[in-house]
Amino acid sequence: MKIAVYPGSFDPCTNGHLDIITRAARVFDKLIVAVLVNSHKTPAFTIEERMEFLRRVTRNISNIEIDSFTGLLADYTMQKNADVIIKGLRAVSDFEYEFQMALTNTKLNPSVETLFMTTSTANMYLSSSVVREVATYNGDLSGMVPDEIRDDIYKKIRRG
Ligand code: COA
Repeated sequence: MKIAVYPGSFDPCTNGHLDIITRAARVFDKLIVAVLVNSHKTPAFTIEERMEFLRRVTRNISNIEIDSFTGLLADYTMQKNADVIIKGLRAVSDFEYEFQMALTNTKLNPSVETLFMTTSTANMYLSSSVVREVATYNGDLSGMVPDEIRDDIYKKIRRG
């Protein structure tokens, strides 16, 4: 059984993330979507909120697990016996950072491979911070995030 981990901050998850999740779940026997901590970021949504959004938007995918972890991705992949780390690449500018992360993770856990999936062209401009920025000013989030979490994103961002 091939297990893949798709890690991210998912603050919040976007249509870009959902696109990668849907495609990766078709390729692997099991896909674990893991909400991890990026120490350079201050999240807007709690880990539990981010996991609940992910559970809601992936409820029709059967071979998926939504999880969270506060340590190193390499340790997490060891703990989960994962074969592969999935990362989405949006543009060439993502590459240098992702390349460094992939090498670091392989150094720390040599039994895990990092595979990159290209983001669909429709989602290339997207990021979680773009979504938060648009929501802050009451902009239209349709096409950016799954419909079932849109209202909750507005509510939280406006409150917060
Ligand atoms: N479509 C649209 N947007 C996407 C996307 C896609 N397919 N894939 C990623 N993005 C966006 C994300 O939403 C994020 O947006 P933001 O910067 O506005 O928040 C941005 O692109 C960067 O994504 P990513 O590079 O995946 O960063 P991340 O913060 O979501 O996740 C972790 C990074 C959590 C995986 C990483 O910090 C980590 O592994 N942490 C654990 C500790 C560790 O092991 N560190 C590495 C070794 S030192």
